[in-house]
Amino acid sequence: MTSTVDKFGELDSDSFQAIARLTYDSCGIQLVEEKRSMIQSRLRHRLSALGLHEFASYSRFVCSEQGRDERRHMISALTTNVSHFYRERHHFDTLRDEIIPKLARKLRQGHRARIWSAGCSNGQEPYSIAMDLLEALPEVATLDFRILATDIDPKVVRFAQEGRYPERMLEGVPPDRRAKYFTKPLTPGDDQYCIKAPVKNLIRFRELNLLGNWPIKQRFDVIFCRNVVIYFDAGTQNSLWPRFRDALDPEGYLFLGHSERIADMETAKFFIAGTTTYRPTSAPAQPLFSSQRKS
Ligand SMILES: C[S@@+](CC[C@H](N)C(=O)[O-])C[C@H]1O[C@@H](n2cnc3c(N)ncnc32)[C@H](O)[C@@H]1O
Repeated sequence: MTSTVDKFGELDSDSFQAIARLTYDSCGIQLVEEKRSMIQSRLRHRLSALGLHEFASYSRFVCSEQGRDERRHMISALTTNVSHFYRERHHFDTLRDEIIPKLARKLRQGHRARIWSAGCSNGQEPYSIAMDLLEALPEVATLDFRILATDIDPKVVRFAQEGRYPERMLEGVPPDRRAKYFTKPLTPGDDQYCIKAPVKNLIRFRELNLLGNWPIKQRFDVIFCRNVVIYFDAGTQNSLWPRFRDALDPEGYLFLGHSERIADMETAKFFIAGTTTYRPTSAPAQPLFSSQRKS
């Protein structure tokens, strides 16, 4: 292990094990020994914020009854929040070509439609979905449509809700959409673009741990849970599939990230409907046209 020794010293093996166990138990994320120095550097500012001088005191505190609030800060420091607008383009092709036309029919007949971005990070995923809906269905705000965007990390949920992005984070948003759905920076030197209200108003942002209860009353037509379960072990992943299936409309869609798979689809009762695209076995089989596209 390469380590940076500073005024807080090293993250010793016992403290690392205690933090790794706590993280796994609270949110399913596996911290492997090889990442010890990265975890040390991610947690350094938490020791500083608490006025602690060594990782042993930090691990004792965060694992204790009084460490409840700190656990949220710790999880926030340990999660990987990388995301992009229109990441894994093929899912948005399926959304535009196959799903939105069905949702539009349903909504125009007076029914509701719901999409869940589970593990939404800084909001690029739900905002990409919302822009696609607005493009295809400009009157969507007058219909019973909503996107739920959730993440365990309170920091990213706040950022997403704010909807202010520096220009470098807008990569992936085509220029016409940038002009239509974002306000430009007001002063020279300011590079913050703000998402406009009609996009934001389609989304409800909430803090939610996928391993906890899901206070969800209505089934979703589509669930995006991409690049989230990759940090979980097989047992945790397998415990999530039936929950996603129960939360999905029988004809719904589940999108996973590029290196995520449902290993045992028979037990999970899903079938492959495209590249990392799954549908409940209750859904009518579709030609696999989205799997033939490049991502
Ligand atoms: C790499 S980001 C993926 C963002 C987006 N879905 C995408 O594909 O671009 C992974 C997100 O999953 C969230 N996450 C990790 N464990 C979670 C859990 N147990 N419950 C809810 N969200 C979790 C992290 O906070 C992080 O924001």
